Amino acid sequence: MVMIMASFHDPAFHDRAAARRFPGPDYLEVLDWIHQALRPETYVEIGVLAGGSLRIARPSTVAVGIDPGTRGVTGVAARVFSMTSDEFFAQYDLRQVLGGRPVDFALIDGLHLFEQAFADFLKLERYAGPGTVIALHDTIPLDQETSARERTTEFYTGDVWKTVAYLRQNRPDLRMITVRTAPTGLTLIRNLDPEWAQREGAGREPAPLDWDYYVRHHAEFLGLAPNDREVVESFCQKTAVQSTGSRGVEIPSRSR
Ligand SMILES: C[S@@+](CC[C@H](N)C(=O)[O-])C[C@H]1O[C@@H](n2cnc3c(N)ncnc32)[C@H](O)[C@@H]1O
Repeated sequence: MVMIMASFHDPAFHDRAAARRFPGPDYLEVLDWIHQALRPETYVEIGVLAGGSLRIARPSTVAVGIDPGTRGVTGVAARVFSMTSDEFFAQYDLRQVLGGRPVDFALIDGLHLFEQAFADFLKLERYAGPGTVIALHDTIPLDQETSARERTTEFYTGDVWKTVAYLRQNRPDLRMITVRTAPTGLTLIRNLDPEWAQREGAGREPAPLDWDYYVRHHAEFLGLAPNDREVVESFCQKTAVQSTGSRGVEIPSRSR
């Protein structure tokens, strides 16, 4: 009861709870480690807002941001497209936008619903190269309320975590770890396959997974990794270590 009252009256309640859960460097610092380790020639970000994460891209990187609702983005060395990711991929050939190069590094942090995060992943995977890393933000939800499909809170991850569950079940070829970084985790994905993405196409029904499934199985499908620079750098190297997560997670029939 006290918890409910606190979250209702204090918008920073969830922020504080998330910070307590994962002390240490936050996801922006982890993204910075990856930029330093990968030195990507190209970077694509879906979901820019005020540019907090896009600003981390180095000036030597050809960087692209996509967001229909940016807020006063300054100090970024990037080309920003003011449109949804679906609109962008319908109107542009990303490879051309990147000067004929593949995507070396990408961040998915746009609309926080499973089907959109999954569609964004597939669209980016089509343009991946052998060493590409895709980072998916908000994959360790704080609680059931802030991960509901219908948004009722300022602090919000939505059900993006289902994308990791789905990929773990259906893509044993991928390498994935989820870094325990504040506020809500960051999943890193490698060993991408543009041909698979091309075949699969976008547009999925929401996965038949509920909060109870998350509580019972998250340790298996997330492949949790410590919030540690060496772990992240090692994952980004060409001979990346295997994910620590299990691959054989059963996805039950529709339960929502
Ligand atoms: C959490 S914010 C991004 C934060 C930013 N990556 C950072 O770390 O500073 C999410 C952003 O996604 C954008 N967004 C929502 N739906 C989108 C879509 N379909 N395609 C691209 N961006 C979208 C919103 O406008 C919002 O600015």
